[in-house]
Amino acid sequence: MKILAIMGSNNETGNTIRLYDYIVDRLSGEEITKVDVNKVRIEACIGCDYCLDHQGECIIKNDDMEWIYNELEHTDLVLIVSPVYFTSFPSRLKALIDRCQMLYNLKDRSGINHKGFAAVHIGGSRPYPQQFEGIKGVYKYWIPDFNAEMVGFVGIPGTDAVKPEENSEGMAEVDGLIEKIKTGDYYGKGN
Ligand SMILES: Cc1cc2nc3c(=O)[nH]c(=O)nc-3n(C[C@H](O)[C@H](O)[C@H](O)COP(=O)(O)O)c2cc1C
Repeated sequence: MKILAIMGSNNETGNTIRLYDYIVDRLSGEEITKVDVNKVRIEACIGCDYCLDHQGECIIKNDDMEWIYNELEHTDLVLIVSPVYFTSFPSRLKALIDRCQMLYNLKDRSGINHKGFAAVHIGGSRPYPQQFEGIKGVYKYWIPDFNAEMVGFVGIPGTDAVKPEENSEGMAEVDGLIEKIKTGDYYGKGN
């Protein structure tokens, strides 16, 4: 199974990258392409609508979205591990999401294989009702653009007080998601 694994924290030494490494290590039997948002260059979408008239093309050339588009279209599973910033995404990850306007504007998605999508998000604050809801709302409308369906979402609150790896309840959910990804019966059968 091909997995596009996106590390979405702007912090390269924080909770997220440790959790990301934990998950990616346990998926190491799979064909993983890693994206660390700090190590790629992704320009911001400028909302120019070029991709409406030029189907499948973005006006911004020669940044890392060129190959990330290809991965989003043809991988078997997209995995995102990220913190919550103001009930939403860190800016570098949000830039990647916004650049998918090109995929949103596609009239013919038949060349994009059906795939799974999984996300693990951490929030520093104690749990509060809307903590992960902004993110879930984005996924509802974003992931169909690359023909993905939700396999699982894990939200771990309270990481400013308790590291994710010390949160046994949260890690049990993460382990469950890893197992679900590994045993997914339709991945790797894309067109
Ligand atoms: C700019 C910014 C905004 C944040 N907004 C939220 C928030 O809305 N809700 C929350 O629970 N935690 C919030 N946090 C806390 C982070 O989610 C938390 O510290 C997380 O562990 C950061 O991940 P990292 O260790 O990879 O940097 C915010 C942190 C930053 C830096």
